[in-house]
Amino acid sequence: MKIAVYPGSFDPITYGHLDVVSRAAAVFDRVILGVLVNPQKSTAALTSEQRVAVIREAVAESCPADVVGRIDVEAFDGLTVDFCRAFKATFIVRGLRAISDFESELQMAHTNRKLAPEIDTVFFMTALEHSYLSSSLVKEIAAFGGDVGQMVPQTVVRHLAERKRGL
Ligand code: PNS
Repeated sequence: MKIAVYPGSFDPITYGHLDVVSRAAAVFDRVILGVLVNPQKSTAALTSEQRVAVIREAVAESCPADVVGRIDVEAFDGLTVDFCRAFKATFIVRGLRAISDFESELQMAHTNRKLAPEIDTVFFMTALEHSYLSSSLVKEIAAFGGDVGQMVPQTVVRHLAERKRGL
């Protein structure tokens, strides 16, 4: 059984992330989308509980039916490699949008391998149509009332709008 963890802030989850997790779930038996809970990160658009709930809905709404059953969503705090070990995952999945992502991803992959030699990082190239996307831009556009409907699933659009209205 090959288990992978796809860790990230997912604040908020975008169609780019959903594409990566769907493709990873076609390769691995199980993919755990690990949502980093960072209480220090005050710029978060959604609380960690909201993020997990929204991501579960987004996965159900947007990932292909044949892989959805292999994707789980869990919050975590601490080291990614500890989270992997807790779920017996031996792979970390990350998406690469452009060469600018490469340097920091290479550093993380090497560091995680040093911490946990039994865990390997594998990269999926973000689909071309989503490669311009970033969660921080989505947050900025939504905060100014812009339309993010082509970037994130409807459940995220709703939550961002509620957040803006202070609900
Ligand atoms: O979506 P992001 O913000 O690019 O994800 C970054 C993430 C969560 C993968 C990274 O910050 C991380 O793994 N944080 C957990 C703490 C940890 O393990 N640090 C050492 C990684 S080299």
